[in-house]
Amino acid sequence: METSEKACKLEDKGKSCCGGNSVEGDLNLKNHWDQRYSNSPEESLGWYEKDLSPSLHLIEKTGIAKNSRILIVGSGSTTLIDALLDKGHTHLIATDISEVALGKLKRRLGESCVEYITDDLTKPVVLNSITPVSLWIDRAVLHFFTEKKDQETYFDLVKKKVQTGGYAMFAEYNLRGATKCAGLPVYHYSEPMLAERLGPDFQLIESFEYTYTMPSGELRPYLYALYLRN
Ligand SMILES: C[S@@+](CC[C@H](N)C(=O)[O-])C[C@H]1O[C@@H](n2cnc3c(N)ncnc32)[C@H](O)[C@@H]1O
Repeated sequence: METSEKACKLEDKGKSCCGGNSVEGDLNLKNHWDQRYSNSPEESLGWYEKDLSPSLHLIEKTGIAKNSRILIVGSGSTTLIDALLDKGHTHLIATDISEVALGKLKRRLGESCVEYITDDLTKPVVLNSITPVSLWIDRAVLHFFTEKKDQETYFDLVKKKVQTGGYAMFAEYNLRGATKCAGLPVYHYSEPMLAERLGPDFQLIESFEYTYTMPSGELRPYLYALYLRN
């Protein structure tokens, strides 16, 4: 696993993580993401991961049972789900605002071994009513929520839907991250910022910085953090 800090050059700030143009005005976010997934092969998406080891390292650290409920938020069409299935996890829930992304997952993995929920994390409807989970996984999703009210809704949902004794894992742009991703502005996180948002019921288990290499070869610095809900 690459955990070394290859500092993202300052001039990278302001660049998009996938070469997209800015999206301005009243965004139709669902269409925005649907188009991203419609227009590119998965392996070319600016957030496609060949190396899943940072996430897998933290997931293994939880030691949760193979039949535990795992919620992958803003899953897109991530191959992390394939890797978790390969490792024997049997209760995976993938949720995303993009039906196109979830459609790709369904075609690849089938309908039977993964539960799919189309929902908006900033206006959750279906997610509000799911049974709490043992592990919440977010890679590169929370950092798109730049509005305070959206962040509050998101963290309220984490607090409601991660069961006591469960875990929450985040992988977000760190404080040196680029200012845009997928043509959208992003918010940056340090570990103390995440801890402050999660509140005293969440105990840090491990965090590290990781430099993600985009399919284009550009580097993007991330913060990874795993919390236990007491
Ligand atoms: C940069 S991609 C990351 C995808 C995936 N987590 C991965 O690591 O490959 C961000 C994902 O968040 C989803 N997303 C963005 N805003 C969302 C929202 N408000 N609610 C749910 N999903 C959202 C997008 O559709 C997209 O799949």
